[in-house]
Amino acid sequence: MSLPVILLLVAGLLTVISLVQRLAARLSLPGSILFAVVGIAIGTIATVVLHGDLGGRFGDVARVFVDVPVSSGTFIYVFLPALLFQSSLTVDVRRLIEDAAPILLLAVIAVLVATFVIGLALFPIAGVSLVACLLLGAMVATTDSVAVIAIFRDVGAPARLTRLVEGESLLNDAAAIVLFTVLLDLLLGGAGRSPAAAIGSFLFAFVGGVAAGYLGARLVVAMLSWLQDLRLAQVTMTLALPYLVYIIGERGLGVSGVVAAVTAGLVMSAIGPPRIAPRDWQFLNDVWEQLGYWASSLIFVLAALLVPRLLGDFNLHDLLLIAVQIFAALVARALVLFVFLPVVSALKLTQRVGIRYNLVILWGGLRGAVTLALALAITEDAAIPHDVQRFIAVQATGLTLFTLLVSGLTLRPLIRLLGLDHLSAFDQALRAHVLALSRSRVAETVRTIGHRYRFASPLVEAVAGAYQGPPPHALPAGPVTTFTAVASPEDQLRLALVALTQREREIVMEHFDARTISGRTVQEILQDLARLADRTRSRGEAGYQTVAAELAGFGRGFRFAHFLHRRFAIDGPLVDRLADRFERLLTTRIVLDELAPFIDEALVPLVGPRLAPNLHGRLDARRRLTSAALEALALQYPQYAALLEQRFLQRVGLRHEAKEYAALFSERFIGPELYGTLQKDVQAARAATDLRPRLDLGLETRALLARVPLFEALPHEQLDATARMLRPRLAVPGERIVHAGDVGDTMFFIATGEVVVHAPGDDVTLKAGQFFGEMALLQDQPRGADVVATTYCQLLVLSRADLNVLRRSNRAIRQNIDRAAAKRARENQALGPRH
Ligand code: CMP
Repeated sequence: MSLPVILLLVAGLLTVISLVQRLAARLSLPGSILFAVVGIAIGTIATVVLHGDLGGRFGDVARVFVDVPVSSGTFIYVFLPALLFQSSLTVDVRRLIEDAAPILLLAVIAVLVATFVIGLALFPIAGVSLVACLLLGAMVATTDSVAVIAIFRDVGAPARLTRLVEGESLLNDAAAIVLFTVLLDLLLGGAGRSPAAAIGSFLFAFVGGVAAGYLGARLVVAMLSWLQDLRLAQVTMTLALPYLVYIIGERGLGVSGVVAAVTAGLVMSAIGPPRIAPRDWQFLNDVWEQLGYWASSLIFVLAALLVPRLLGDFNLHDLLLIAVQIFAALVARALVLFVFLPVVSALKLTQRVGIRYNLVILWGGLRGAVTLALALAITEDAAIPHDVQRFIAVQATGLTLFTLLVSGLTLRPLIRLLGLDHLSAFDQALRAHVLALSRSRVAETVRTIGHRYRFASPLVEAVAGAYQGPPPHALPAGPVTTFTAVASPEDQLRLALVALTQREREIVMEHFDARTISGRTVQEILQDLARLADRTRSRGEAGYQTVAAELAGFGRGFRFAHFLHRRFAIDGPLVDRLADRFERLLTTRIVLDELAPFIDEALVPLVGPRLAPNLHGRLDARRRLTSAALEALALQYPQYAALLEQRFLQRVGLRHEAKEYAALFSERFIGPELYGTLQKDVQAARAATDLRPRLDLGLETRALLARVPLFEALPHEQLDATARMLRPRLAVPGERIVHAGDVGDTMFFIATGEVVVHAPGDDVTLKAGQFFGEMALLQDQPRGADVVATTYCQLLVLSRADLNVLRRSNRAIRQNIDRAAAKRARENQALGPRH
């Protein structure tokens, strides 16, 4: 068939696809269902025309639709990588990782269970080999979550549930296709291979695919940074990515190309945003959304066109097989949902999923583009016996159609029947509340603009007044729950705190858009805020407080970096973490300052003044915690603090500079050439502020040594030798440096900072220049007290052996340390143990 004909076919289908979209919106049905229906209709009409007496001119057109001139290679190579890459690109990887265990388990185990249950159920009656039955099982084991997720969104299902289903469907595509490839290999003459070899190649293909996708994506992301500000080039580069990893993986390395494409998408979505300007990232996602849409809708329509031909000699036996298959598929899914999933949640790997949601997931297991694409590939593989081809194509299409037309169309009624379409009172109130908030902002804007243009007040009030309260259509029928109708005062506070956190998120995003804060910091803060919102939602005020305290404290990553520094003198990670912390705290302080007026301006008018002190109290507590943590850092590293503040201001300046130049240009005060040069300057300056200044831990032994008066007694020639004995170390506020009762083998000199000794008598504060930890070494006894850092401290650590050397070689130092130890022992004894 000639190229113009193929182009005409595609153009015609694209026209149909776009028009059908309108219909789908009208009927509020997932587009995929209608694509299938329309495809089947076109295919049927074309078949009738071709085989009826209406040949001639029409016959030629009809033939195009019946003998679709698109080969399986097209489906697999052109559409599949794009489709899978796009869906993984939209996934919030960091949150996916939190649920990685259940999702992986669900995806991989569910695919295996479905493959075997369906394959074994069909084998006795299908009349084809077991491998062929299993192959079919693998093809239909993938689920297409798009329709289900659209419905979940509509009914406001918990975000976590949506994530589980989304993640599962993404990974089960990959798992199912790998299994499909392995089984196909087995079917095509790999009869001599053992099951162990099959499992081996499954694992190799999967793990190898992950590695290929990961490396490819890292490489491309590095190049994206280099293509900064050239968004057309950036998108083009990402367009190449899935095809590169797919084909190199599949053909070059013999691993799974599909897994590589999915992994590449996930990696890209995890590490891409901080390295690409927000607007460019948005553009990239928009383009990909369009590409993914083309890929999936074309797969649907093209595959549906073939249905009439596939089902041409459809008979009762086929029908029986389809019925068995449907039943087996449901049983397999039920097994996973009602047996495996509860085990997973019993192991505390995930929250429990309610039975009603499970029913919806069970019935909502629609099959989609991936199954159809694989079926098409099978029908065109000449190496596969004809009866197997027919069996697989008819069965896969049959199940897909059943799920689309029967399950798809009944899913919404089922949800209604189960009562899942009612938001909980809390969610309803939250929604009403959030809507009212944004609407009151609209009212404010209308008023400001009305007055600025000096329109009559009554007129302005009339228009602005329409925005007071929630919009009439947005709420479900029935009594509208308003904020004050939420039962308890605790719930009201909970609601207001959630709204406060949402506003905080918005402010962070505004800064990110203005490029005043770096992508890396934004990612961290957004994650923190998501946790804050989640916990506040589930535990109310107490949850808010707990997370707020955690946010000002040291997280797991920091503690690990600090451990590396303490134990192995590996400083790199600690330097990074400290700089991260600095930036995060500074940003948080700025954001919280901006957030404070929101309480009085927006929340109080809605929730009443009663809650105001409480809200201010919570926010002030957070500001205090943040400021204290920031000040502690700034005290130790004042220069770095100044550097960061300067950088923030510079970024604010750059943003306004860019805006000014753009205005001058658009008003023709400056020409394109000058504008171009100015823009370049701004870009260069911006690139310079993107590089974070390096934090110097300031742990230089000689410099620290000079801060401890004790060592003034050392003659010049002994200084170097002593410096070599001492190891510098940073302690963080709250760190317990010495544990009472431990066996001690080191002592510490304080170069900067402060510690408190919880001595038997009373707390004693030790400052820069003093030392501690000497008593256990001198008196050969366990540590006599806890010593806790109250600020960041730069310490010098001396081992027991080196202390002895030092004491032997310098009398003044020996006397000094020994006297101090003796005096402390006397004090402790005199005051006696504390009660
Ligand atoms: P050590 O017993 O090794 O560990 C705890 C340390 O706290 C101890 O050594 C002293 O260095 C310090 N310490 C104990 N008691 C006092 C005190 N009364 N005043 C100052 N420092 C003390």
